Amino acid sequence: MSAVPDLALTPPMGFNTWNHFGGNIHETLIEEIMDVLVESGLANLGYRYLNIDDGWMAPERDAQHRLVPDPKRFPRGIARLADQAHALGLKLGIYSCCGTKTCMGLPGSYGFETLDAETFAEWGIDFLKQDWCHVPFDDFPGKSHREVAEVLYGRISDAMEKTGRGMVLSMCNWGDGEPWLWARGIAHMWRTTPDIADSFRGENIPQGTWSVLRIFEHNRTLNAYAGPGGWNDPDMLEVGNGGLTPTQARSHFALWCLMAAPLLLGHDLRTMTDDTRNIIANRALIAIDQDPLGVQAAVDVQAGLYYLVKPLAGGATAIGVFNATLEPQEAVMDWERMAGRAVRWRTDVWSERTEAITGSSRVSVAPDETLVWRVW
Ligand code: GLA
Repeated sequence: MSAVPDLALTPPMGFNTWNHFGGNIHETLIEEIMDVLVESGLANLGYRYLNIDDGWMAPERDAQHRLVPDPKRFPRGIARLADQAHALGLKLGIYSCCGTKTCMGLPGSYGFETLDAETFAEWGIDFLKQDWCHVPFDDFPGKSHREVAEVLYGRISDAMEKTGRGMVLSMCNWGDGEPWLWARGIAHMWRTTPDIADSFRGENIPQGTWSVLRIFEHNRTLNAYAGPGGWNDPDMLEVGNGGLTPTQARSHFALWCLMAAPLLLGHDLRTMTDDTRNIIANRALIAIDQDPLGVQAAVDVQAGLYYLVKPLAGGATAIGVFNATLEPQEAVMDWERMAGRAVRWRTDVWSERTEAITGSSRVSVAPDETLVWRVW
């Protein structure tokens, strides 16, 4: 067991460059995001990891085979950014790949796992996202994708542990080989699906990507495997990137919180609207996501309505209802049956209104809408 559970007793929270910026990243951008995380108050809400995704490396390793930051994009190196992040109370994440190359074709960690883990530890890195492109499956004759993934993620995980620096390992093999079945103890989070698209229902999305709805549909079935120290990762957030209606954006965030997903913001924090901020900074939803019991909601579906139940530490329960149909629906909320115990009060996480519970209630749910309450 190489992945120390303590590093991710609750789902990691922060920001990642990929969804909004793709490979177009540089050190000034990272510094600006760092400042916004702190000044906007998001860091205080828990968004502490600033994760640099693909595109940070030079095309070649150096003479000692070490990874080198791209001299044009990161002229002053990564270690300095890590120092700056730490001085601000943030953590710095970086990206590499199990294969010979990253998905952008830059140098991958295959055969260099020990050296790369040492390099990242020396730089003061706190989080590694390890991708799954250009994996030389031919080097593992007769082995399944799952077996190869266990070997390669095991190697980087062991190498990271040997450095003695606590680094979170984020496995990014898109659900290949069903990582939820075996990744606990190797990694702290594991992607369960292909890449997310900035679209709720998936109209005209890039080939190979999945809509928010499709990802939810799959990830929700894996609730048994999430818990303190290891989390299902339904991919980074698209809230604030423009492809979702306000209702869809609220649903995306609420569903990820009910699923105890890592919350990695994926929009340009420097120009975010108040609406976006109000969604991602919702304290009640963040508390549900970060609840120390670490349970991913169990989900029941009836006629296009999804009922989500997430037990919380201290005896309260988070209850949600999501309308995945194209018409307004009326949901019957049988609070006590869902909570599995006597409950007297419910607080709506969006309006913050608290009401007494007397029997079950009928609520109307707009298309794409997710209503969430904390009941106790
Ligand atoms: C893969 C990952 C993405 C991102 C890109 C970078 O597609 O799943 O999250 O890291 O690679 O190239």
